[in-house]
Amino acid sequence: MLTGKKILLAVTGSIAAYKAAFFVRLLVKSGADVKVVMTKAAKDFISPLTLATLSKNPVYSEYFKETTGEWNSHVELGLWADLMIVAPLTANTLAKLANGYCDNLLCATYLSARGPVMIAPAMDLDMYEHPSTRDNLDKLKSYGNILVEAEDGELASGLHGAGRMAEPEHLITHIQDHFEMLSSLKGKKVLITSGPTFEAIDPIRFIGNHSSGKMGAALAEAFVAAGATVSLVSGPSRNYPQTSDKIHLHQVQSAKEMMSGAAALFDDVDIAVFAAAVSDYGPKESATQKIKKSGGSLHLELVPNPDIALELGKTKTSQFTVGFALETNDEKVNAKEKLKKKNFDLIVLNSLNDKGAGFSHDTNKVSIFDKDNNEVSLELKSKKDVAQDIVRIIYDKIKI
Ligand code: C5P
Repeated sequence: MLTGKKILLAVTGSIAAYKAAFFVRLLVKSGADVKVVMTKAAKDFISPLTLATLSKNPVYSEYFKETTGEWNSHVELGLWADLMIVAPLTANTLAKLANGYCDNLLCATYLSARGPVMIAPAMDLDMYEHPSTRDNLDKLKSYGNILVEAEDGELASGLHGAGRMAEPEHLITHIQDHFEMLSSLKGKKVLITSGPTFEAIDPIRFIGNHSSGKMGAALAEAFVAAGATVSLVSGPSRNYPQTSDKIHLHQVQSAKEMMSGAAALFDDVDIAVFAAAVSDYGPKESATQKIKKSGGSLHLELVPNPDIALELGKTKTSQFTVGFALETNDEKVNAKEKLKKKNFDLIVLNSLNDKGAGFSHDTNKVSIFDKDNNEVSLELKSKKDVAQDIVRIIYDKIKI
């Protein structure tokens, strides 16, 4: 149900616009308060009168009413909505939204919307597959817009393939899922370790690794989007999450500092995700002054660092814990061993053998294992999408 939810439906000029009538009916039937904004081209496919009657609200299309000069404020519309959904989204409006164009009320409203935006493209199959369309969709996804992919079937052109706007019933399910997700982890406290650790050799040099902190940052944002508050204990990184009063950042350098930061928080959290690439070893002693070149070899004695996940796993009470495994060989076997050894509830495996997965990339390809040997393998996707999937899987596990 969508009782009391304010939904702003943005309709653009595709033949699929005729489905907007059913869609508005379904939204209203689910209890939503619906307003509609449409482009000029959309009005060639469905009349504003139909949508105004079904939504029980005036339909917005122009910046002002010609007869009275009365202003339709895109800012007010954008701020009003709990969710804006652009359905159907044509290739033309997609290109405009992806590039910040603002030549009509719908585009201006999109730019003004502070809340989440869902997009449901509709176009012919070749248009849908065109690299420029895919780039534009990726761009909108990178802004955090939620893409409901077009469905397969017969298209208006007579061709068969992907391009049909998702059916209104499916859109309703996506919207309901979205709101469920938004409140799913409300009030939950989450600890995330993230990034690399730097183990000082002297004041200038350190032992570190290639971890970028992108996965941890994406996870923090995904947890906050699901209503949780996050304590992010992060090693040195150039990729922190967007500032939010729901993310408390604890910056650390070494594994030992990360250990004490995480240990101080662990008892009080509901969920802990160990996404950091912690240096397993650090110099036994760190020189207080720069080590000078001596011409000969330099011997460093390395000693093991605390295994944060392992140590905290031993003290675990009700926390749901998730680990990461980055492997180069015997991936699954190693990941499952770690799941057991570190007392994780889930482990996320990324393999360095997969193109586009692991350090520094914006994308990741992971498989997730639970304690009952269940495995979910996700395709290569953006770290933001992977983070959302991980959060959803955690939610599904803890709600049982
Ligand atoms: O044993 P391995 O380093 O592959 O284990 C990976 C998992 O353990 C990750 O979740 C990582 O964050 C965590 N870990 C840790 N402290 C260490 C080493 C790994 O928390 N010293």
